[in-house]
Amino acid sequence: MINAYIRGTGSYAPKNVVKNNYFESVGSSDKWIFENLGIKERRISTGETTSDLAYKAGLSAIEDAGLSSTDVDLIILATATADRLAPSCACFVQEKLGAKNAVAFDISAVCSGALFATATAVQYIKSGMYKNVLVIGADTFSTITDWNRRDAVFFGDGAGALVLSHTTEDKGFQDFILKTDGTGKEHFTIPAGGSEKPTSKDTIANGEHYFQMNGSQVYKTAIDVVPKCIDEILTKNNYSIDQIKYLLPHQPSIRILQEVARRVGLPFEKVKTNMDRYANTSGGTIPIILNETLKNNNLEKGDLLLFAAVGAGWTWGTAIYKW
Ligand SMILES: CC(C)(COP(=O)(O)OP(=O)(O)OC[C@H]1O[C@@H](n2cnc3c(N)ncnc32)[C@H](O)[C@@H]1OP(=O)(O)O)[C@@H](O)C(=O)NCCC(=O)NCCS
Repeated sequence: MINAYIRGTGSYAPKNVVKNNYFESVGSSDKWIFENLGIKERRISTGETTSDLAYKAGLSAIEDAGLSSTDVDLIILATATADRLAPSCACFVQEKLGAKNAVAFDISAVCSGALFATATAVQYIKSGMYKNVLVIGADTFSTITDWNRRDAVFFGDGAGALVLSHTTEDKGFQDFILKTDGTGKEHFTIPAGGSEKPTSKDTIANGEHYFQMNGSQVYKTAIDVVPKCIDEILTKNNYSIDQIKYLLPHQPSIRILQEVARRVGLPFEKVKTNMDRYANTSGGTIPIILNETLKNNNLEKGDLLLFAAVGAGWTWGTAIYKW
């Protein structure tokens, strides 16, 4: 049976580092940010676009996979901060990569985007339609952040990528569970700039082109839905949490991840984090942490990786991968 396996990974973040003390002027502090969110610093673009970050992460994943850009059949880019409203950001990346044989499109699921994109890529490979798929999660939330508000502390810019290829070996993605609940759409949103409220002088004056987030609802939802989704995928596939080598989660905040780990009974040492260095890079988080995990650990055949994400929409999901 055909399955999809991770053939290569890469990541990229802008060089410009912004430390927590930068936010003292908007009423936050290094102590509060580190204690509540686990963040010490984040990378902020000084002009690089989302497609620039995505291109660099994507190229590095293609090289890591031992392929060239023309071997890629499909590019799926998960982003909430595309270079333009149209065309898709994936078209920009396809051009930059010179991936002239690839079909390319975006997926919009905000912080769950890379997981949704990966699940989509795996279906294309399993169906036999494509052999080599480049999945990229990339965001520049600095471009939708009001830098005069204290919730500017949450996000950083970055991109991660993975190349998925077909295999008939006993390895690869075992299962995905993806969920959406559109009743949560007001809890993280960019109100203006779309068809509902096109950009106008008023929307700009009101700052409606910046993200708005209900932090306490994000927290409550994340610690409720993610553990349930982890339990569901483990039960469905007859695995116990003890069999999981690492959890590679989206990186919303250290407190959310600690509570998720506690609820599913996973020792926190098995939870991979990097929000201390990157903050929440939204679509970038899971492929960046995947790239770091693979570069810094020697996985053995049969090791099980668990993925989990939650984001605006609401959207959330889990996946299990067998090395
Ligand atoms: C942000 C979060 C820590 C705030 O905690 P909360 O209890 O829900 O929210 P509150 O507004 O009641 O704030 C609690 C305290 O933190 C302070 N606070 C909130 N945001 C702050 C900030 N950015 N900087 C400094 N202090 C802040 C408040 O002033 C309040 O202080 P007080 O107790 O002295 O009055 C919490 O909601 C959270 O972790 N949410 C998840 C957000 C997230 O992960 N977003 C990523 C999107 S995927």
